[in-house]
Amino acid sequence: KESKKTKIYAVPELVGQRVRINGWVHRFRPQKTNYFLVVRDGTAMLQCILTGDCIKTLDALDLTTESTVELVGTVEKVKEGQTAPGGVELLVDYWKIIGRAPGGADAFDGRLQQDTDASIRADLRHLELRGETATSVMRVRALLLRAFRDSFHKRRITEVTPPCMVQTSVEGGSTLFEFDYYGAPAYLTQSSQLYLETVLPSLGDVYCIQESFRAEKSLTRRHLSEYTHLEAELVFIQFKDLLDHLEDMICDVVDTLLADPVSSEIIKTLNPTFQPPSRPFLRMDYRDAIKYLNENGIKKEDGQDHVVGDDIAEAAERKMTDQINRPIMLIHFPKLLKAFYMQPLASAPDFTESVDVLMPNVGEVVGGSMRITDYDTLMAAYKREGIPSDPYYWFTDQRKYGTTEHGGYGLGVERFLAWLLNRWTVRECSLYPRWMGRATP
Ligand code: 4AD
Ligand code: MG
Repeated sequence: KESKKTKIYAVPELVGQRVRINGWVHRFRPQKTNYFLVVRDGTAMLQCILTGDCIKTLDALDLTTESTVELVGTVEKVKEGQTAPGGVELLVDYWKIIGRAPGGADAFDGRLQQDTDASIRADLRHLELRGETATSVMRVRALLLRAFRDSFHKRRITEVTPPCMVQTSVEGGSTLFEFDYYGAPAYLTQSSQLYLETVLPSLGDVYCIQESFRAEKSLTRRHLSEYTHLEAELVFIQFKDLLDHLEDMICDVVDTLLADPVSSEIIKTLNPTFQPPSRPFLRMDYRDAIKYLNENGIKKEDGQDHVVGDDIAEAAERKMTDQINRPIMLIHFPKLLKAFYMQPLASAPDFTESVDVLMPNVGEVVGGSMRITDYDTLMAAYKREGIPSDPYYWFTDQRKYGTTEHGGYGLGVERFLAWLLNRWTVRECSLYPRWMGRATP
């Protein structure tokens, strides 16, 4: 009899038909007269039943989880009162093992347990990725990037792909990865911001989704050495427009993901209490945040109260965000705490038109600002920071040839996912995370 080769996601539409599927054995439950398999092919899961002649030829021990199989059979609706993925099951009449995974001591299920030591789990990331949680996170990650791209496209913001190998720093020298570039020093990019700024006069508003690299010398829940950086740069805007845009984008992509059946189901499973952020986001001046920290007994790492001019460390920032328990736009950071390119506040030049978006459970997810537009002011900023401006000629030229107000931001994709999916660490939100001391697998 003929069979139709299909991916599993399409099987529920093929009730009554004879189909052929390929996949990996996700679960295997042998019983006396029936063997139940759950098979996955990356598009969905399917419950399959082997019975009668099919299991006469089969030694139950031959079938192991994570083996690849081909199965042919008839699609049936599950019986009343029973559940299976997609509401259907496959009554198998022909099967074949394509690649048998080991059983016994080396069986897949035995190698990765919830209580497996973290460094062994990290070594086994390639296997961990087959698990339901990791798969769900990666699926939402894909849908999130797509939702961002759709939102940018809708707003006439154009995608570009800046270089990863560069010879200038954006966010300070201390986190640069340096390498030898044909005998000259070069770095892995920390941020594509400066490159985005240079194409505003040709493409208008632009964005990129590009890997950024930071030689972070600490091990935290939210720092990676390589992360996916979603950055946008907007022209002819003012600071308030930048804040409004950020709020719009974040709400837009969350709405898109909640409207999508796949991502909304995963969000419900991994983060059952998730509420889409309500607008407007709380906008909090840096100086009010310092006041908040002191009034709520959130101390600095050395146990002292915060004073204006202090950096707000990760722990304090997270404590405050968790207490307030909604997205916060923290604005107007002191000039001395921030990068050289930030536009000073007209009303208080020691502070900047800058913003961090803080999310519960993670803290900073976005960093952005308006940029210095005046050539001389920019040159003075290089001088103040002790950064030679010559290597940046391609960036500073933008202030010579038709300068204008503009601003932008960078969003850490893994941090955004950690917030959305309630993950303990950004490491769970990266395919093969890199952090201090780990670049394998
Ligand atoms: O705040 P950052 O350093 O800002 C910039 O790089 C700007 N040049 C971006 C811009 O305006 N175009 O980084 C932006 C975001 C942070 O808010 C955080 O979410 C993420 O990038 N990020 C990291 N994520 C994971 N691991 C790290 N080590 C990160 N460093 C920054
Ligand atoms: Mg930042």
